Amino acid sequence: MLQILENISLKPYNSFAINVNARYFAEIKTAQDLTELSKTGLLTTQKLLVVGGGSNILFTHDFDGLIVKISIKGLNSVVDSDEVLVTSGAGEVWTDFVNYCVKNSFAGVENLSLIPGTVGASPIQNIGAYGVELKDVFESCSAFEIKTGQIKTFTFEDCHFGYRESIFKGELKGQFIITEVTFRLSSQPKINTSYGAIEAELQKRAIDHPNIADVSAAVSHIRVSKLPDPSTIGNAGSFFKNPVIEKYEFADIIAQHPDVVHYPTPDGRIKLAAGWLIEQCGWKGKKVGETGTWKNQALVLVNHGSATGTEVFQFSEQIIDSVKSTFGVTLEREVNIL
Ligand code: EPU
Repeated sequence: MLQILENISLKPYNSFAINVNARYFAEIKTAQDLTELSKTGLLTTQKLLVVGGGSNILFTHDFDGLIVKISIKGLNSVVDSDEVLVTSGAGEVWTDFVNYCVKNSFAGVENLSLIPGTVGASPIQNIGAYGVELKDVFESCSAFEIKTGQIKTFTFEDCHFGYRESIFKGELKGQFIITEVTFRLSSQPKINTSYGAIEAELQKRAIDHPNIADVSAAVSHIRVSKLPDPSTIGNAGSFFKNPVIEKYEFADIIAQHPDVVHYPTPDGRIKLAAGWLIEQCGWKGKKVGETGTWKNQALVLVNHGSATGTEVFQFSEQIIDSVKSTFGVTLEREVNIL
């Protein structure tokens, strides 16, 4: 039975643990709940925010509208020779989904182990880590259209995935609520350990021929060592995107900073490591009031306890200004500011 709560604190529902209130709050456990919610009229008359794990949001004030928390569960798989189609309810915790796949030897998402958030949020910003992005394993998703109350299917082509981007963040923003996602995984793993510290971590463990459980364990270990655990220290992962710049802009930067961390992109531009840029400006591990950057990864902004969203936002402005004046590069936020 659908319940609509009023004036509740959102602190348990955002990984930054910012204490703001929402006017209305509804938890959705089945697609049917969405139909019921639709009948109340709130979906179209109120300002709307759909949340999964609340792990990519910074609230800077009370939310005068309706928060819809998606808790639709369910995991099932269909094996088709070397491939497996796994369908997950949008409200499954991403890590539970990855663990289910690793346990059943369904390969493809092991590099995405321990990313916070829910399955339904994963296509929205095309989550990625350690050389793999959601789009590499995405088959399709179902989504509830707010205007019509109908469930529609989106294929890979429909979603227009880019670096931390999709049609759900762009053209169709605010129009659909993802209810389930189907992934195309493999029973013949293609182990991908080329990125960052995975290889080194496996060597430390004396593993020469890793299986997907080994990769998942290595990635989890690296993440735990670098990133703060949101259940003990509020954060939303990378606060900014890694900036992508033109070659001529890069030429100026490398001339002055020969050790700048950078990666070529397939379209001939250059991606810079925002964490490195921020660290060079002296912000790594800095604490300003109740906010700051994480001691092991400057790209992650944290709430040390009672920070307000405005404090975190103002701190992020200082970082943007500082990186701009040192490197001439404008950082863009990855986290949604509300
Ligand atoms: N670096 C520094 N100082 C720092 C942080 C990073 O010098 O304080 C350097 C590192 O030494 C490394 C480079 O920057 O050479 C890249 O760092 P890292 O491998 O930690 O990855 P990232 O580019 O900072 C991205 C994603 C993360 C993802 C990791 C691993 C973005 C915005 N972030 O971070 O995703 O986990 O790669 O694949 O693309 C997220 O989106 O919330 C997130 C955590």
